[in-house]
Amino acid sequence: METKVVRLKINFKTLEEFKKFKEYGLQELSMLEDLEANIVDNNSDSPFYGIYFGDKLIARMSLYQIDAKFDRYFYPPQNYLELWKLEVLPDYQGKGYGRQLVEFAKSFKLPIKTNPRMQSRDFWEKMGFTPVEYDMERDRGENPLVWYPEGVEAQEK
Ligand code: COA
Repeated sequence: METKVVRLKINFKTLEEFKKFKEYGLQELSMLEDLEANIVDNNSDSPFYGIYFGDKLIARMSLYQIDAKFDRYFYPPQNYLELWKLEVLPDYQGKGYGRQLVEFAKSFKLPIKTNPRMQSRDFWEKMGFTPVEYDMERDRGENPLVWYPEGVEAQEK
C-alpha cells in the first residue's frame, strides 16, 4: 500500500493513537488537556506529522521551526527544524516509514537538528545526519545530530 506523510490534527482520535507510541509524555498530555479545556480547537494542526496505514497511525514525528535569531548550530544562522519523537510502531519498523518521514522533513530545505535515542544512531547516519562538535553550554548533555542542506555549514564556536 502506498503511504503518505500528513500533518496530524489535534483531536481525540489522534491523541488515542499517540498512546501506542513509547515516547508518549508531557507534550501529548498537555495537548489532551488543552483540547478538553477548549484551549485548542478540535482538528487544529499539531506539530506532528505521521503516516497512516489504513486508518491506523503507524509512524510519527514532531517538527518544530526554530527562528534564525535563536540558531546556534548553523552557518549562516537561519531558521531550522527541530525534529523529535520520530517513532515507527514495532510491527512496521524496517519497511521504509522512518526514512519516508525524514525525507519529508528534508523537503522543507531547512537544516535539521535532532537528539537521537541511543540505539538509533546507525539509522540517522544512513539518513545523512552527522554529530556536531560538542559545546557544553549549548548542548547540555545532549548529543545532537544535524543535517545540512546545500550551502549550509556548522556554526564556528
Ligand atoms: N539500526 C540500524 N539501521 C537501521 C535501524 C537501526 N535501529 N533502523 C533502521 N535502519 C536502517 C534500515 O535498515 C534502512 O537501511 P537501508 O535503506 O539500507 O535498507 C534505513 O535505516 C531506513 O530504515 P527504515 O525502514 O526507514 O526505518 P524504520 O521505519 O524502522 O525507522 C526508527 C527507524 C529507528 C525510527 C524506528 O525503527 C523506530 O522507531 N524504532 C524504535 C526505537 C528505536 O530506536 N529502536 C532501535 C532498535 S532497538
